[in-house]
Amino acid sequence: MIYFDNAATSPIDPEVVIEMTKVMKENFGNPSSIHSFGREARVIIEDARSKISSFLNVSPSEIFFTSGGTEAINLIIRACIIDLKIENVITSNLEHHAVFKTLDYLKTKEKFNIQYVNYDKSGRIDIYDLKNKLKENPKSLVVLMHANNEIGNLLPIKKVGEFCKEFDSLFFSDTVQTMGKFENNFKKLNLDFAACSAHKLHGPKGIGFVYINGEIKINPIIFGGGQERNMRSGTENIYGITGMAKAFEIAYREMKKTQDYLNNLKLYMISELKKNISSIKFNGECETVGLPNIISASFPENEKAEMLLMNLDISGVAVSGGSACTSGTSKASHVLNAIDPNNNDPTIRFSFSKFNTKDEIDKCVSVMVKVLQK
Ligand SMILES: Cc1ncc(COP(=O)(O)O)c(C=O)c1O
Repeated sequence: MIYFDNAATSPIDPEVVIEMTKVMKENFGNPSSIHSFGREARVIIEDARSKISSFLNVSPSEIFFTSGGTEAINLIIRACIIDLKIENVITSNLEHHAVFKTLDYLKTKEKFNIQYVNYDKSGRIDIYDLKNKLKENPKSLVVLMHANNEIGNLLPIKKVGEFCKEFDSLFFSDTVQTMGKFENNFKKLNLDFAACSAHKLHGPKGIGFVYINGEIKINPIIFGGGQERNMRSGTENIYGITGMAKAFEIAYREMKKTQDYLNNLKLYMISELKKNISSIKFNGECETVGLPNIISASFPENEKAEMLLMNLDISGVAVSGGSACTSGTSKASHVLNAIDPNNNDPTIRFSFSKFNTKDEIDKCVSVMVKVLQK
């Protein structure tokens, strides 16, 4: 079996499993309990928070554990509209469902304006359009993802942070696809909010965190026992938190090596695909820049191409037809539609991890060639 769907979720690193299993066996205490069992669990959680925050150059008090990226995104956007009374949101049509569905819902309840930034046919955000919009509407909330989960485009995040600072606006970047892949020094990036999901970086599912700039005060969306300094009630997922911290440690330890390795894999697959399938077309900026691990490719609309995803699956190669949330359904991807509304061509997203090899790419390309020639 070949797994090329790492942007949907990634296999847990064996080192993470060892760390989590140890805590599962030895530390079952509730971190809120004052006895020794609870205190041990609390130490594990706070050590994990310190470790993660030091990698991101933020204070541990700015990290709040959540169930993952979706919850973090809901919390931030809701708080900005309801608590901070933001009147203008600047975002794009290329964001994750968690962003635009939260905004759509809030729009039915609250009074605020949404502006969408321009982008080109490669899905490249027009940051000068963003600057003009900010000039006209200072004190906005800017919501732009760091890396697009479908086409792998990267936002010039530093520049966007500078513009937000210049026009007194808040900046939230959905960093779910870039955590552990780049340094992500949040203070240098002028970020006010960010989101993380551990399962995208070889950690466990159901755990993530939200970063909230310490100077900004917002209210929670989940109420109860007051955990996470009242920001996110509910007994902490100690095993998940342990696993996420270990996944960060490994990712930062191996970052440069993994970046180079993935970039090589990506460029190798692009060149093999071009060599063997002349009709292929790449979406976004993956041929030149972008995330080192995502390729989005379209094939001319015909029966063989439409069966590609299923035939790859039958041959033991797992890929995605769009984002994880839409794979398995026939719904057209909102991102591909947004960058080219006339493109109905069958599209496949290949996404790699450090566990993939060139040999797997050769096998995948040869299956594709066979299917398309049949
Ligand atoms: C860019 C992006 N944002 C948010 C999410 C949601 O994260 P989670 O699966 O932790 O809810 C995903 C996952 O698909 C994603 O790729």
